[in-house]
Amino acid sequence: MKFVWQETLRQTCAMISYWCDQSAAGIPNVQRDARTVTMNVLASTVFRETYDFVGSANLKVSNLSTAESFRDALLLVHHYIIHLMVIPYRYLLGPWVPGKLSKIGFAAFNLEQIMTKVVAEEKAAIEDGKPGSGGLITSLVRTIDHISKRGALTLKEMLGNIFLINFAGLDTTANVLAFMIIRIAGEPDIQDWLYEEITTLTEGRPVQDWEYELFPKFKRCYAVFLETLRLYAPVTGLPKMTGRGMQAIQIGEQLVTIPPGTDVFPMLLGVQTDPQHWDDPFVWKPKRWIVCAEGSAEVDSEALLVPRKGTFFPWAEGPQGCVGKKVSQVESVAVLAALLATNRMHIKNKPGETEDGIRKRVEYCCDDNNSNVLLQMNNPTQIELECVETSKD
Ligand code: HEM
Repeated sequence: MKFVWQETLRQTCAMISYWCDQSAAGIPNVQRDARTVTMNVLASTVFRETYDFVGSANLKVSNLSTAESFRDALLLVHHYIIHLMVIPYRYLLGPWVPGKLSKIGFAAFNLEQIMTKVVAEEKAAIEDGKPGSGGLITSLVRTIDHISKRGALTLKEMLGNIFLINFAGLDTTANVLAFMIIRIAGEPDIQDWLYEEITTLTEGRPVQDWEYELFPKFKRCYAVFLETLRLYAPVTGLPKMTGRGMQAIQIGEQLVTIPPGTDVFPMLLGVQTDPQHWDDPFVWKPKRWIVCAEGSAEVDSEALLVPRKGTFFPWAEGPQGCVGKKVSQVESVAVLAALLATNRMHIKNKPGETEDGIRKRVEYCCDDNNSNVLLQMNNPTQIELECVETSKD
C-alpha cells in the first residue's frame, strides 16, 4: 500500500497544479480528473506503468489512441463497455466496420494483447526465479499460476481477473472522490477542520515527504470519505443469492424465511440512510464519524466511529467483499490530505448567492445522480470550482 500512497500523492500534486492554472475559468471537470488520478494510480499499482497526470481539458476519449498504451486502451474499453457487452470485440475488427466501432474493437484487442504480454513476462520471471515487476500483477500472477497448476484457471480467466480488478477499481473510487471534492468545496468549515488535522499531523512538511505511516492517522480525512460513501456508495445494491439452506431474517417484528437459491438484492444505500441507525440520515456530516476521548479536543485523541454491524457496508462484507477496499481507502485519504495541505477548494458563486445558497446548490448537484452502472452525478460540471493556494486565499 506504500506504493499506492506515494503514487496518489504524486498524481494529486500534479492535479492541483493543473487545477490552480485552470481556476480563473473554473476547473473544467472534477469527475474526469479524479478518474485520471485513479486510472494512473491503478496502472502503476497493478502494472508498474507510470503516467503523468493529464487534465480533463487535454485528455479527450475521442483523441485517445488504441495503440501501445495500457492506460489509453483501458480508458477506451471502459468508456464503451456497454457497446462491448453487446458486441464481442472480435466482430469489430473487420475492415468493413465503421471508424468509431473499429476503434473500440482495437482498444479491446490491444488491451487483451497488453495483458497477455505482461502475464507472459511475469510468468517468465517466476520461472527464472526473478522478482518480476513488483506490481499487484506480480502477486496476482504468482497466486493464479499456483492455482492454475492444479488446473483451476485458464489464461482467459486470468486475463478476466486482471481486467476485473482494473474495471472494478476505476470508477468506484473515482466517483466517490468527485462527490467528496464537490461536497468539501461547499463546506469551508469542514475544510478548516481537515486543515487542522493535516497541519497537526504533518507539521507542515511538503506532501512529497509524507510517509505511509501517516495514513491511519488522518482520521478526519477518512471520516469525510466514509460519510461520502454512506450517502453516495458507488454500488447501491448487491445482487446475491441465498445458499443451499433456508435463511431467516428479522424484519421489524416479523421473522421472514427465504428459500434456498432465491435472488436477493440488499439495498445498501437504503440501510445506510435508515433513520433507525443514522441521525439526520440524508445530511452529509463527516463529524458524525469522529468520537473524542471524554473532554478532549485534541486531534490525536480522536477515534473513528465503528457502526453497528449491517448498517454500513459500501464494500459489501464476507468472503466475497471488495478486494480493493484498502486501495480505495489509501487513495481517497491521500487525495484529500494532499489537496487541502496547500490549497482550498471554492465554489464560484452566482451574483448575490449566500453560503447557504451555495450549499444547497452543491447538495442538488450531488443528489442529482444516476446509478446506470455505478452511482455518479448526472452533471458534475454544473458546479464551477476553483482551487486556490492557501497562502493566496
Ligand atoms: C470506494 C471504492 C470501492 C467500493 C465502494 C467498492 C465496492 C465493491 C463492492 C460493493 C463489491 C461487490 C462485492 C460483493 O459482491 O459482495 C466490489 C467487488 C470488487 N471490487 Fe471493489 N469497490 C471499490 C474499490 C475497488 C478498487 C480500488 C478495486 C481494485 C483495486 C476493487 C476491486 C474489486 C474486485 C476485483 C471486486 C470483485 C468483483 C467480483 O467478484 O465480481 N474495488 N467492490
